[in-house]
Parts: sequence; structure tokens; C-alpha cells
Amino acid sequence: MAWEAVADLDQLEEGDMMLVELSQPICLIRLYEDDVRAIHNTCTHQQQQLHEGTLQDDDTLVCPAHASRFDLATGDPIGIPAVKPIPVYACKIEDGAIWVDMEQQLNDAEIPHKPYH
Ligand code: FES
Repeated sequence: MAWEAVADLDQLEEGDMMLVELSQPICLIRLYEDDVRAIHNTCTHQQQQLHEGTLQDDDTLVCPAHASRFDLATGDPIGIPAVKPIPVYACKIEDGAIWVDMEQQLNDAEIPHKPYH
């Protein structure tokens, strides 16, 4: 277990996203008041940074480059062009902070390779 406080909860409004640099670049998404998700920040299509994407009403995230859509619970892409899932990590709210455990990946997605740019 390696839970790490990565941000104050009040740094991230409901419906917003932010990048945090842990052992991998992580996109935090505050879906609801009491629900924050942590995914790898690198799109599995062409390595765009996902924290610059757009949240949808169905709790998916759309990549800003070519509009791949990822399920924030499973990490699975929904439709092309991305075909590989994005890693999803354990994330919780406690003591007014957002915590991530990079040792607890919740799916079996491969780590995307680093952006070329
Ligand atoms: S880089 Fe994300 S859809 Fe192409």
C-alpha cells in the first residue's frame, strides 16, 4: 500500500481535471463532490495529454486531439481511434485531500509510452 496525498480537495472543482506528476503523469478527474478518479494522463492513441480533454455527462473523457473517448471506471476506449485502454489507479478523498495509490492499478492496461513531443 502506498497511498499518497497528491492534491488538496479544494484545488479541484467538481467537473474539473488536473495533472499531477507521480511515478507516471496522472490525470485527476473530480466527477462529483465525493468522487475523484485517477487515470494515466497519456492517450493510448498518439500520446496527447488527457487532462486537456473534455468530460462528458456519461462519465467519460474525450481526448483533445482526435476525440477518443475513455470510460473512467474501466479505462476502456469507447470507439476509435484509440483501441487500447488507459490505466486507472486507486483514488480516494480523505482528510480534505485527494489520495492516489500507484501500486493499485484497477485494470490491466499497459502503461502508455511517453509523448514524443
Ligand atoms: S491522441 Fe488521443 S485520440 Fe489521438
